[in-house]
Amino acid sequence: MHGCPQIKVLLLCLTNEWAWLVCWCKVTETQVKLHLQAESKHSDLAQVCVLYLAGVMTGMLSLETLTISPMGVDTVSEVTALLLLLLLLLFIGRRQKKHSHVPGPPFLAGLGPILSYARFIWTGIGTACNYYNNKYGSIVRVWINGEETLILSGSSAVYHVLRSAQYTARFGSKKGLECIGMEGRGIIFNSDVPLWKKVRTYFSKALTGPGLQRTVAICVSSTAKHLDNLQEMTNASGHVDALNLLRTIVVDISNRLFLRVPLNEKDLLMKIHNYFETWQTVLIKPDLFFKIAWLYNKHKRAAQELQDVMESLLEIKRRIINETEKLDDELDFATELILAQNHGELSADNVRQCVLEMVIAAPDTLSISLFFMLMLLKQNPDVELRIVEEINTALSEKTAESIDYQVLEVLESFINESLRFHPVVDFTMRKALEDDDIEGTKIKKGTNIILNIGLMHKTEFFPKAKEFSLMNFDKTVPSRFFQPFGCGPRSCVGKHIAMVMMKAILVTLLSRYTVCPREGCTVSTIRQTNNLSQQPVEDDNSLNMYFIPRPTQAQPRWLMPK
Ligand code: HEM
Ligand SMILES: *[C@@H]1O[C@H](CO)[C@@H](O)[C@H](O)[C@H]1NC(C)=O
Ligand SMILES: *[C@@H]1O[C@H](CO)[C@@H](O)[C@H](O)[C@H]1NC(C)=O
Ligand SMILES: *[C@@H]1O[C@H](CO)[C@@H](O)[C@H](O)[C@H]1NC(C)=O
Ligand SMILES: *[C@@H]1O[C@H](CO)[C@@H](O)[C@H](O)[C@H]1NC(C)=O
Repeated sequence: MHGCPQIKVLLLCLTNEWAWLVCWCKVTETQVKLHLQAESKHSDLAQVCVLYLAGVMTGMLSLETLTISPMGVDTVSEVTALLLLLLLLLFIGRRQKKHSHVPGPPFLAGLGPILSYARFIWTGIGTACNYYNNKYGSIVRVWINGEETLILSGSSAVYHVLRSAQYTARFGSKKGLECIGMEGRGIIFNSDVPLWKKVRTYFSKALTGPGLQRTVAICVSSTAKHLDNLQEMTNASGHVDALNLLRTIVVDISNRLFLRVPLNEKDLLMKIHNYFETWQTVLIKPDLFFKIAWLYNKHKRAAQELQDVMESLLEIKRRIINETEKLDDELDFATELILAQNHGELSADNVRQCVLEMVIAAPDTLSISLFFMLMLLKQNPDVELRIVEEINTALSEKTAESIDYQVLEVLESFINESLRFHPVVDFTMRKALEDDDIEGTKIKKGTNIILNIGLMHKTEFFPKAKEFSLMNFDKTVPSRFFQPFGCGPRSCVGKHIAMVMMKAILVTLLSRYTVCPREGCTVSTIRQTNNLSQQPVEDDNSLNMYFIPRPTQAQPRWLMPK
């Protein structure tokens, strides 16, 4: 790994008349590009083996290039070549042990990277990370698309990365990010650091300060409005499609906070869902994937559809702004961006992508978190009792809009424990912008980093790390051990508003209804995927719930007729 030759790509085109063998060998600091090329029939295994061997050996000897004449190779028998290859594998294996401090799957002459990449593609990123951390420990070296990737799940290493300015980029397939419009645009996967910084200030402004105060009122009224129309989400036997209800509430809130344009929630949610599917499909795919039209086109279309919706919503917004005599003192997010575009600060494409990401952020994360919370609540009736008591006490003095949410301590512990025990965002992806050293492990510039925060929350500090228990938050948890939103320069920019939104929605909902998932339906039994984030599989009605109204005395004052 460090200082020893490493064959990054082994490309054998054995199907045509020519056998090409290209090795990139890293010899200490200088990258020596070894380009071996020989005339060979594809059946001539011996020749290929010898070339491979020669490439590696010369890499180790720091030779710049080496060309082997086909004549010389012909004299070597296949048996000799295979023996040499075996020797070579042994040699590489030993050198790897000697030089690599980071545990991880073996290189196996190029097979290791292929296998680890395949695991990421087939089982999903989150599942693969958990597999590797469980197998090799809290710091693991794997390969994604041929690139060296470290998976970290130890709190001190994670905390170091979160807080440093040299890990403010993310990684992902360039073509994949282009497909979803995130390459060099927007905020979430924008790795153009200066542009990301500029864009992030607009997000911060909208998600903190005065925006936060309006949030509570909007969350309460939107939740109440959708609960009043609950029958729209209820099927003939009285079951509510809870996840869809939460998504609808959350997308309405996002619109009323950041965009303020009339829209068709149902249609928008469907397109957000398809966009997310595309996002997790293309994020780490090899370039080849994007050349295969029948695989790629439907994803391209799904991404385009949401972008088109955003464009038309923005068009409406521009017209509204144009027709407004005097804009409010507090401008919403979309208005700020449009004004920035008018002043030449941001491109139209970037504005559209920023608004898109702002609109999808909460439906993709917060609504699913709330869904898990409703399930966990039913699995822990004692906790539900304590929360409802706390809510009732608070509501007996104040309205849901004016409660001091800071004092709802049980509710906050419950939210924290839910985010710890069953997170939606299980890990985050970063890239090293500079060389670094994390606890004795050298990090080369350009290394991909995955912070497996979900696993960190289950392996360190907490007294009942493997169970759901509010006891885990009885004592103040030092921040380095609990990072559901990350921290530092590239943390979740919506972390404060997300807490406020979850509290306001839960208070409004739980003061009116108690929610029952179907028999035997728990967070550990429902089908889930963990690719880009941890999500329930919605293929049948298995996620439906009963919403049972609470007795009227529990109804808060603000719901009673004035
Ligand atoms: C329960 C809800 C949420 C959870 C658990 C969550 C979690 C996270 C996490 C872990 C990250 C990555 C941080 C890192 O790399 O260190 C992130 C990024 C982000 N989140 Fe959230 N988030 C939530 C809700 C929201 C909401 C409501 C918004 C906005 C309305 C939002 C906007 C963002 C954005 C824009 C980023 C990318 C920031 C950047 O790359 O600079 N999130 N979130
Ligand atoms: C996500 O991962 C699951 C396996 O857990 C897989 O079946 C599914 O196809 C993946 N979905 C996408 C969109 O990659
Ligand atoms: C805004 O109004 C001006 C004229 O008042 C017009 O020229 C411009 O095209 C309008 N822009 C939009 C986006 O409607
Ligand atoms: C919940 O977690 C946040 C960090 O996300 C922390 O600041 C807060 O103190 C925690 N609340 C409780 C009650 O433990
Ligand atoms: C309503 O949903 C429940 C729960 O998923 C399901 O068992 C039932 O068959 C559904 N009823 C109708 C009429 O679709």
